Amino acid sequence: MSLYQATASAPVNIACIKYWGKRDTALILPTNSSLSVTLDQDHLRSTTTSRADASFTKDTLWLNGKEEVIKPGGRTAVCIEELRRLRKVAEDANSNEPKISSFKLHIASYNNFPTAAGLASSAAGFAALVSSIAQLYSLDKVLSASQLSLIARQGSGSACRSLMGGFVAWQAGQLADGSDSLAVQVAPREHWPEMHALICVVSDAKKGTSSTSGMQRTVETSPLLQHRINHVVPQRMKDITAAIQARDFPTFARLTMQDSNQFHAVCLDTEPPIFYMNDVSRALVQLVVEYNRAAGEVRAAYTYDAGPNCVIYVLQKHVKEIANLVVRFFPLAETFKDPFALFASEKIGEL
Ligand code: PMV
Repeated sequence: MSLYQATASAPVNIACIKYWGKRDTALILPTNSSLSVTLDQDHLRSTTTSRADASFTKDTLWLNGKEEVIKPGGRTAVCIEELRRLRKVAEDANSNEPKISSFKLHIASYNNFPTAAGLASSAAGFAALVSSIAQLYSLDKVLSASQLSLIARQGSGSACRSLMGGFVAWQAGQLADGSDSLAVQVAPREHWPEMHALICVVSDAKKGTSSTSGMQRTVETSPLLQHRINHVVPQRMKDITAAIQARDFPTFARLTMQDSNQFHAVCLDTEPPIFYMNDVSRALVQLVVEYNRAAGEVRAAYTYDAGPNCVIYVLQKHVKEIANLVVRFFPLAETFKDPFALFASEKIGEL
């Protein structure tokens, strides 16, 4: 008897131009395009194994060993159903394909980093889930990563960007059915191998306001978001794409910091306001600003997602310098524990 099983792993991505706001909450269509860097280290990954078997009585998901409810019509169910539908189409078209689309699935997913702490765990999680079921159903042979990103997007918006490596744009699209709201690779990792991301874990506690409810509140109440969508992000997407293509670090870094600042300003402009950064986060902003000022050039860029943790983009030649500074000013960094820990970039381990 054949075993129908596949395992896939996907890394976290960290946005430089942030996605914040949905124009369609069911299909997860964003109010603006976004752009991220997919991390390629082993530290921040989700790994998912999916198995189909005639004996299974219901689709079941375990997240870090704990069973999660798959809500009918919920995001996980939507991803599974769409992949199952595509598998059924393939089976109907080719009678040699084993008829496994009618089997229920058992899915086990592990994150090797804190879940829901502003480290984009849902992005890696849904990207790994979609990849593993796509492999199980042999859909990865007929669909491109961009096509699969349409499905991962419906799990968690930012997940669509984790299906590709390097520098990835999520094009907001215009169509009401979402068929043009997908991820495309702007440049592969090898295009700019000197680029590093330092992940500074300020806190691994679960975040207070989920991105889903936070975004909804922002869309409903923030006038600044409208300005951002219409007058800021379109040009920023063009400028950062050009900076990546030209490997222009100072421009890339300035745009990344500006966009992080505006995302958190939009959170503050929300009613009631949302605070994701804390005092340690703000101290790290100052550290990066002072570092760049003292260097007389922009050598590092901070960015913060929906949590207090800091990601610092820096070129390889300056990794040691900035990492030493972080460790000097936040001595607990070396201990890898709360309230501050530092990990990621392999280069850090070599210091
Ligand atoms: O995909 P979600 O719902 O986890 O939203 C992610 C939003 C940010 O991380 C704050 C920004 C981004 O573009 O990843």
